[in-house]
Amino acid sequence: MSLTRLQPSYNPVKKLKSIPLPDKPCEIFAILARIFILFCLVSSISLILYTTFFPQTHSLHFPAPKRTAPEPKPEHEFGPTNISHILFGIGGSAATWNDRSRYSSLWWDAKKTRGFVWLDKIPGDKNNSFRISAPPYRLSSPEWTRFKFSSSRSAVRIARIISDSFKLNLPDVRWFVMGDDDTVYFTDNLVSVLAKYDHHQMWYIGGNSESVEQDVMHTYGMAFGGGGFAISYPLAEKLVKILDGCLDRYYYFYGSDERIWACISEIGVPLTREQGFHQRECIWSSGSTPVAPLVSLHHLDYVDSLFPYKNQMDSLKSLNRAYQLDPPRILQQTFCHDKNRKWSISIAWGFTVQLYPLLLPAKDLQTPLLTFKTWRSWSAGPFTFNTQPMKSNPCELPVVFMLEQAEEVGQSGSLTRYKRLEPWPGKKCNRTDYAEAMSLQRIVVSALKLDPEFWTKNHERRRQCCDLRGIKKSNMQIRIRKCRPWETTTTER
Ligand SMILES: *[C@@H]1O[C@H](CO)[C@@H](O)[C@H](O)[C@H]1NC(C)=O
Ligand SMILES: *[C@@H]1O[C@H](CO)[C@@H](O)[C@H](O)[C@H]1NC(C)=O
Ligand SMILES: *[C@@H]1O[C@H](CO)[C@@H](O)[C@H](O)[C@H]1NC(C)=O
Repeated sequence: MSLTRLQPSYNPVKKLKSIPLPDKPCEIFAILARIFILFCLVSSISLILYTTFFPQTHSLHFPAPKRTAPEPKPEHEFGPTNISHILFGIGGSAATWNDRSRYSSLWWDAKKTRGFVWLDKIPGDKNNSFRISAPPYRLSSPEWTRFKFSSSRSAVRIARIISDSFKLNLPDVRWFVMGDDDTVYFTDNLVSVLAKYDHHQMWYIGGNSESVEQDVMHTYGMAFGGGGFAISYPLAEKLVKILDGCLDRYYYFYGSDERIWACISEIGVPLTREQGFHQRECIWSSGSTPVAPLVSLHHLDYVDSLFPYKNQMDSLKSLNRAYQLDPPRILQQTFCHDKNRKWSISIAWGFTVQLYPLLLPAKDLQTPLLTFKTWRSWSAGPFTFNTQPMKSNPCELPVVFMLEQAEEVGQSGSLTRYKRLEPWPGKKCNRTDYAEAMSLQRIVVSALKLDPEFWTKNHERRRQCCDLRGIKKSNMQIRIRKCRPWETTTTER
């Protein structure tokens, strides 16, 4: 007999009522029994009510952002996370630091940022001008040479930066952010991302590689070190305790980041992925970027300059100028359609504008053209995002404009100017409507600055909209603005 069939017919209260009560001792017993059953009923009802209204107390769940810790903590541990709560640990070496310090000098701000680049020995050339505006260096604690390794000895040293940083015991550190000496951070956006999470909990935050090949070869569960990753204080505390033994267990891995992942796996904390950590800049090299704040860029030495007519350092400086104006907006994509001319325009703010003399829906404008290759095998994919094959018909390729100038307008606005590039090499479209697009010299984009807490508050995780404001002297004017509540980006009239 199944339990479900048994239950409806079994009613203890009914049963009890039907029992005859012949004499006193039994009567007392029966009264006690009734009281007992009543008591059971009341307690089970209250248990049901309790679990309905306070489900969290009894159910298993993963920690969610913004949970408060149960035990009382000093006041200063609860304010919003800002840059002073991050301790950066940068993996460097004496051999590369003189050259690579130019990348750190771009984002390091000695008045605000805290941290060190960790080196194997004292670097030469003290007179390097970049080093002056880059993070100060420290020498890794010498024990690192004692550990087992297979391919890369320095990976052990770099994995131990989390211990070296933790043991400095600096005050008010909520997050340890690890990265390479050629990682470029956009620190305002990094703070916005970390501020969403409760630093009293254990968090391991970062991104995968954009190359599936890399994720398969290493692991999808790991934060790739080049894009940088963040470890909250409580997780760092546990990790540092087990790290040394753990490094010997995973001596056969290639990188420091994979060792860190393997050790964190033993603690049992999963990776929380954030889209803004970029192991490689390829996602947006064609101007298609996710609706997420840009946190980091990496491998800049190994890819073409972001701006084709500039070297990489000057390219980054240009990008940085726009970033400084309106940090949350950097690289955010916006789409406009000129329905009379049948044009589609995609703006990646602070970097590039692409004009297609075709009406293309948002779904196509947000999918990058395959203008890049995978890391390592340099093949055409696969990537962890979708791409569109490069068009063979030159008339389907966009006319490209690149950032030329970025300036503040009043207190709260910005004006960015994008200059047209020459046509794609060897690809020229003869169509007259294409010629009209090619006759434009510049695109001038105005926008109100985004709320600095745009990505923390997260109340509107949505692309913004834009209006075309006509063409004057071969300059096209565009205004970016918040979309109206019911507005969508469509090619229909
Ligand atoms: C960061 O927050 C702390 C409080 O936790 C505060 O004392 C400090 O002034 C803030 N720093 C900045 C740069 O805002
Ligand atoms: C350091 O660099 C400055 C200018 O870059 C130069 O004038 C100076 O002579 C250099 N000093 C040494 C010791 O090389
Ligand atoms: C463009 O025009 C030239 C001459 O008018 C012609 O030779 C060429 O094939 C055309 N190219 C395309 C892509 O249509």
